[in-house]
Formats: sequence, structure tokens, C-alpha cells
Amino acid sequence: EMLEKGGFDHFMLKEIYEQPRSIKDCMRGRIYPEEGKVQLGGIKEFAEKLKNIDRIIIVACGTSWHAGLVGEYLIEEYARIPVEVEYASEFRYRNPIITEKDVVIAISQSGETADTMAAIEMAKERGATIFGICNVAGASIPRLTHAGVYTHAGPEIGVASTKAFTAQVTVLTLMAFYMAQQKGTITTSKLIELLTELDHIPEKIQVALESNELIKEVAEKIKDSTNCLFLGRGSGFPVALEGALKLKEISYIHAEGYPAAEMKHGPIALIDEEMPVVFIATQNSSYEKVISNIQEVKARKGKVIAIVTQGDTEVKKMADYCIEIPDANEAFLPLIATIPLQLLSYHIAVMRGCNVDQPRNLAKSVTVE
Ligand code: AGP
Repeated sequence: EMLEKGGFDHFMLKEIYEQPRSIKDCMRGRIYPEEGKVQLGGIKEFAEKLKNIDRIIIVACGTSWHAGLVGEYLIEEYARIPVEVEYASEFRYRNPIITEKDVVIAISQSGETADTMAAIEMAKERGATIFGICNVAGASIPRLTHAGVYTHAGPEIGVASTKAFTAQVTVLTLMAFYMAQQKGTITTSKLIELLTELDHIPEKIQVALESNELIKEVAEKIKDSTNCLFLGRGSGFPVALEGALKLKEISYIHAEGYPAAEMKHGPIALIDEEMPVVFIATQNSSYEKVISNIQEVKARKGKVIAIVTQGDTEVKKMADYCIEIPDANEAFLPLIATIPLQLLSYHIAVMRGCNVDQPRNLAKSVTVE
């Protein structure tokens, strides 16, 4: 088993460190930065259909659902197609309105999640076109869908999903660009610019991994907390949700992810000197707004841990701990900002003596309702 872990103490840590490579594998043969072109062989036969779809519905559970939320931002931004993101378990028991003009994207690492499979079957019966985003080749979900794109992240052993999440986000990024290309909502020069940057995201993830020692120090300071809040805006919101899920899954600390602006509608009541609040505070369109949310937390003596852009000075004046990540186009920030949160929950769980790879009560894939 030591061999399988490749010298790492846990599968989860190995999988976190694999991300520069897994994302490269996910993009291989699919992006052509010099030409400003995305090719997705798996959904090629639906290229024409994509020009006229009314709506996309994303169905998934857990971490895959968080990836879906990032996908919503990207597809709406670039392809200008309305997107709804649904928990498969809720969707399947409603009487949702689905037509032949809808595309349903089912996201699943394992490809065996019972609720996601049931949601696919229902949408299929109602005439929708179903795309899958899956990590395990030949699993049940890829067999149920009309077409799909594999994430190629390699086997994920840790119950807490890490590299599968960033690979799902990568595929959704490619899908958003592909759809934009089909619909003509993006120019070739813009695609050249975006794809050229995307091609170098694995190196930026590598840089983000280099904050590991600092993250360990931060983990030491907050490891005994009973609660933790994660806040972000825009596509930083799903990153916050994912950070909170990771922490609760493996360290058993109660954690909540929230859109930062929603804090004042409730969670602000929880803030005192015992409450660590993790902010996604990178320099993007919501930076100034996040800064005022940080001030609100500091005014109530909350402990602020901020994920910031390299070279940031503003947030550093306010936050108790800052973890830097390389600057990137807003579209790619979730891919990088997730990395320190994965490491943070990993170290906290190890320090608390938890079984990181196999947390209590959880299974790698939930094949029952
Ligand atoms: C992730 O850390 C969780 N263990 C869990 O939420 C998982 O993402 C969910 O069960 C969905 O699994 P799937 O992607 O294999 O469908």
C-alpha cells in the first residue's frame, strides 16, 4: 500500500499533489491554444444541436454538484446558455419540466451514484439529450448517457474527492468554451487568449501546492475549532462550498460554505473570536466587496484566513492568515483556489487523528438511495 501511495502518507495527499498532471491529462488532445480551438470528440456528434439548445440542466451529488455550480458560471458567461444546477436526489423526485431541446449534464466521479443515475433515466424518458462527465471509464453512468467527456484524472482512492473535482471543473471549462465556439458567442482571438492561459494552469497549481508548509501552520492554529465558515462570491462561492465539504468530511469539524454577501442574512450571528472564517479573496471582479465582508468579520473578532492573489497587500492588512495563489483569469480561479483548501482540510484532519482516506460513515460511491 505504501508503494501505491507513492511515498505520501495518504491517498488523499497523493491525489492532491497529482493535480498538475491530472489536469494536463484532462486537457490533452482537447485544446489547441494557437488555433483558439476546443475539440471534444465525446460530444462531437451533438455539435449542431448545441447551437439551438434552450437550456442546460446539470445534475450531480456532493462534490460533483459543486463542480456543476462552477460550470454554471462558465457556461452562462461564455456560451450564454441558461443553466440550472440540481441535486440529483431532489430533481428525480420533483416533476421537472424537461423538453427535447434541453441538454442534461450528469457529473459523477464514480459513475455509479444511484441518485444521479435515476435523474438521468428520468430526463431521458422525457426526451432530453444527456451528456456525462465521468472519471471511471465504462462505469454505469457513461453507459446511460447519449454522449460524454471523461475526466481522465486516474483512479481516485481517497473518499474525499480532490483531483476528480478539479478535472470535472476542467471538463466543464472546456465544454463552456466548446459551446461558445459552436454558438459563436466567443471570438477566436478571445479563445486563443483563454486557452493559452488554461494550458499553463497546471503550473499555477504547482505553485499553489508550494504553500503546503504555511498551510500546515494555519491548520495548527484552527485545528481545535468546532465550527468553520467558508465564504466566497461569484465562482468563489462553489469553491467555498467545496472547502467546507472537505473539512467536514475528513476532520468532522462543522463547516458551512456561504456566498459572502449572504453572511449578513444569518451566519454573521455565529461570528465571535472562536470562529475561523475562510475567505476566497482573490483579485477579481468581487475583490472590493469581499474586502468589506472581511471587515465585517474582523469587527466581530472572527479569525480570518484568506486565500489571496500573490502580491496582495489590502487583505493582508486585515486577515489573520493569508495564503497566496498565482493570479489567473477569473474563469480559472476555482481550479487554483481549491488547492489550498484541500491541503488545509487534509492537515487539520491528520492533526486531529482522523482517518483521512476513509472517513467514518462515508462510502466512495453512494450506490443506494
Ligand atoms: C466528495 O468528497 C464526497 N465523498 C461526495 O460528496 C461525492 O462527491 C458524491 O457522493 C458524488 O459522487 P460521484 O461523483 O461519484 O457521483
